[in-house]
Amino acid sequence: MRKFLPAFLMALMGGVALASPVTFIERAPYDETGIDVAVDQSALHGILPEAELTDLVEAGRRLFNTHFTTNDGAGRPLATQATIPTHFKHPREIVFQRASGPDANACSSCHNKPSSGGAGDFTANVFTSEGTESADFDSVDPQFSNERNTNHMFGSGLMELLAREMTGDLHAQRDAGFAEAMKSGEPVRVDLVTKGISFGSISISPNGVIDVSQLDGVDQDLVVRAFSQKGVIPSLRMFTLNALNAHHGIEADERFGAAMTGEMDFDGDGVINELSPGLVSALVAYQATLPSPLPTPFDNSEWNAMAKQGSAVFAEAGCASCHVPALPLYDLKFADPGPLDSAGTLAAGDVPEPALYDLSQLDWVAALPRDENGDVLVPMFGDLKRHEIADDRTSHFGNELMSQGFVPRSTFITAELWGVADTAPYGHRGDLTTLDEAIRAHGGEAAASRDAYADLSEDDRNALLTFLKTLRMPQ
Ligand code: HEC
Ligand code: HEC
Repeated sequence: MRKFLPAFLMALMGGVALASPVTFIERAPYDETGIDVAVDQSALHGILPEAELTDLVEAGRRLFNTHFTTNDGAGRPLATQATIPTHFKHPREIVFQRASGPDANACSSCHNKPSSGGAGDFTANVFTSEGTESADFDSVDPQFSNERNTNHMFGSGLMELLAREMTGDLHAQRDAGFAEAMKSGEPVRVDLVTKGISFGSISISPNGVIDVSQLDGVDQDLVVRAFSQKGVIPSLRMFTLNALNAHHGIEADERFGAAMTGEMDFDGDGVINELSPGLVSALVAYQATLPSPLPTPFDNSEWNAMAKQGSAVFAEAGCASCHVPALPLYDLKFADPGPLDSAGTLAAGDVPEPALYDLSQLDWVAALPRDENGDVLVPMFGDLKRHEIADDRTSHFGNELMSQGFVPRSTFITAELWGVADTAPYGHRGDLTTLDEAIRAHGGEAAASRDAYADLSEDDRNALLTFLKTLRMPQ
């Protein structure tokens, strides 16, 4: 049930357990606090009833669009943008700073094309630095940070579920190989394939040592990390915590609270308990339930015929080997916290029982096609795998100077093309204005496919571009 409470009543009732996990707060006009919802994390466990999920998603939608103020704890004079809580060596004097952040007031300040949760213009680019040494940069020079364009979260709940299933498959294959090597006393080679995507192989010797030199496109722990254009973040929850701190200077309790850092006010802005685990859950629920983009026909039959031809050209030119049109998903229950969350992010082991959001009850999920096994076909046009995408001849995507997560500099996760018709500009830096430029910029593992595109007849090339223009965002 939905409840509205004035802020002063909320304060009086502090700690009293309420039936619904979500409370919407009515703030007085002079109360310049942005956050106007409260969520009781302890009430989020097991399958969440549909009405409560609806409330939670609405709470997350409001938070995603909230302009955080200093009353909420915006700003971080003593904390850097780093994932691991890190102090600046000297307190920051300016609250907002376009290069190393905080650089925005709301999540939707950047994620807004064509609507909240969407992609962003070049103006919404972010300068990300994994290293803590250079976290205080005030320049956009690439020697200090990697510049990234804003991507969208539509369909991201299904993406994270796919990554969890793929990780489960890879771990099961590794464990079976391990058991076989122990039993047989012989080295065992395991080909790692999940949902038709190959991640290379590992060799396991009978003494338990694993040779990972033939791994391809995934980390050595075999966790498929779907998020960030680098493919180094495993969950919406972890990304959300990073973003809250980096972009807004809002430090979530589960990462920056006294239990983790030993400090009540780690970022030194005078506000404590800036964002509860329940509010992080609301942000995750909102993003995880954003509808997936779907191929959308034109009103014009001639263009639809061209798009159909273009879809075949897309496959023939080798595009579909990385931009796989759809991956099958077996389980539609989204657990939060999820199995891939780890230290610094509320994890499954930190709660008595994770909440389960049954995405199959959402209308847009029910409308997705299924394969012969009944698995939902997630129309992502991606493979959740990292590829070397630049070489000496075609070096555009090799522009970054800093490796992130020890992933080579010109290696990126395949951009999911769902919604690509509405998410210009393109490329991880957002410096390509047309699809044609973005395709011609492919090098490295995609060199042959890029050349195939360049060699197409004008008719086939136009057909391919027309097909990509059917990949619309939900309007
Ligand atoms: C200043 C602009 C900006 C703001 C504000 C911002 N983001 Fe982002 N977001 C980005 C950029 C840029 C990326 C791509 C990052 C990369 O590739 O490394 C991104 C990526 C993401 C992703 C990963 C999507 C994917 O498919 O890889 C998530 C999740 C996300 N943001 C959530 C949030 C949340 C939640 C907030 C608010 C707390 C937020 N963002 C605020 C710019 C922004
Ligand atoms: C070897 C794998 C691979 C192949 C083959 C491949 N791509 Fe890509 N594609 C990628 C990766 C990785 C990116 C992300 C590049 C970046 O921004 O760093 C990408 C990015 C893109 C983008 C930009 C998306 C955006 O939102 O910025 C488009 C468009 C695209 N590819 C289309 C194609 C087409 C069309 C083909 C076939 C001619 C193709 N790709 C072949 C891996 C591949």
